Amino acid sequence: MNDQKKILLIIGGGIASYKSLDFIRRLKEKNFEVRGILTRAGEHFITPLAVASITGNSVPTDLFDPENEAHFSHIELARWADLIVVAPATADFLAKAATGLANDLASAIILATTSKVVFAPAMNVRMWENRATQINIERLKSYGYEFIGPTHGSMACGEYGMGRMLEPVDMVAEVERRFDLPFERKYRAIVTSGPTREAIDPVRYISNHSSGKQGSEIANALYEKGFEVVFIAGPGSALPQAGMEIIHVNSANEMLNAATSSLPADVFVSAAAVSDWKIAEYTDHKLKKKNQSQGLKLSFVQNPDILQVISKDKKNRPRLVVGFAAETNHLKANAIKKLEKKGCDWILGNDIGEETDTMGGDFNEILFLSRTENDKWPRMSKKEVGARLADRIYQYINSEGT
Ligand SMILES: Cc1cc2nc3c(=O)[nH]c(=O)nc-3n(C[C@H](O)[C@H](O)[C@H](O)COP(=O)(O)O)c2cc1C
Repeated sequence: MNDQKKILLIIGGGIASYKSLDFIRRLKEKNFEVRGILTRAGEHFITPLAVASITGNSVPTDLFDPENEAHFSHIELARWADLIVVAPATADFLAKAATGLANDLASAIILATTSKVVFAPAMNVRMWENRATQINIERLKSYGYEFIGPTHGSMACGEYGMGRMLEPVDMVAEVERRFDLPFERKYRAIVTSGPTREAIDPVRYISNHSSGKQGSEIANALYEKGFEVVFIAGPGSALPQAGMEIIHVNSANEMLNAATSSLPADVFVSAAAVSDWKIAEYTDHKLKKKNQSQGLKLSFVQNPDILQVISKDKKNRPRLVVGFAAETNHLKANAIKKLEKKGCDWILGNDIGEETDTMGGDFNEILFLSRTENDKWPRMSKKEVGARLADRIYQYINSEGT
């Protein structure tokens, strides 16, 4: 990289600050120039000496230090950076930034900079879920700040849940992505989405109301997490952001072919509403009306079950196969049955009764089922469902031994 990019890393007072040293080392390996500063609380966890040794630059810690102010003022630091990363971003630091406080070096820099700022939150799951923290995050997003993670996982405090900072290697990928630098996408995911169409004759078909919004949000979230994504889109499906391979299909058979020929992959997410049935005999000319009293009888045969075929693929089964169970009745019982019958790893059950507005709407209410878990997610936007699922997928795929 000729044009060396400058990263200012602000290290807050969280236990995950130990990861920051490895993060700096990896950024430098990728030829970024890095300066680090520690908040007062950050200094309780790692020393300015360690940060200075790894960055090769001095580490100011005090807003009112005459030496620093004469040498490289807080305003100059704010201007110097092409990108500012706050990692770990503690709940306290997020609160400060959200209210615009500038009473120490780090918060003054955040307020003074015109560079892009990304926060990598790290905290206990209860602190993360606290309404105050969530409101602060919403506010920071509304100001244009960006976020890296957090993700689900086990925590230093012994709890498990959302609030874990991303691993340094993934943080570097996120930084590179922000400069539009190529980075290696380690894992491959296939996502099917939207309805299928089963032709009756050259002009007619049967289909369903699936909009493909949920599938495209899952694909977006996986792509954001650094997955290479193949998106298999049924007709009219909402499409994900640019950068992914998109395969357009019509029928269930075409979708199955596209899915199997896209293997191998690490993850398969079957979010498409695949027609269970197709017309037994396709008519190759337009069916004509005869007389008024005469009806039309169509007979159907079953389509291949894509989720089951992929789950039971002996040679190329992805490490994680995720299906959806869209039900109008007995959601839990049917979702459990589906998990068993299809042989997939996770099922996301969702109620698509008319009053729910799930099909075609922007919200979803998920019952998450695995062989060991049974977790009801609150009603949330399809984008949030995508992000939550992508987090879990990433955690699963990235953890050793699974
Ligand atoms: C051992 C220990 C670990 C802590 N870990 C975290 C943490 O992971 N996340 C967090 O938000 N706060 C954590 N805290 C609390 C923060 O250190 C505290 O809120 C501090 O004021 C944050 O300062 P900052 O805004 O400079 O980051 C921890 C405190 C202690 C004593």
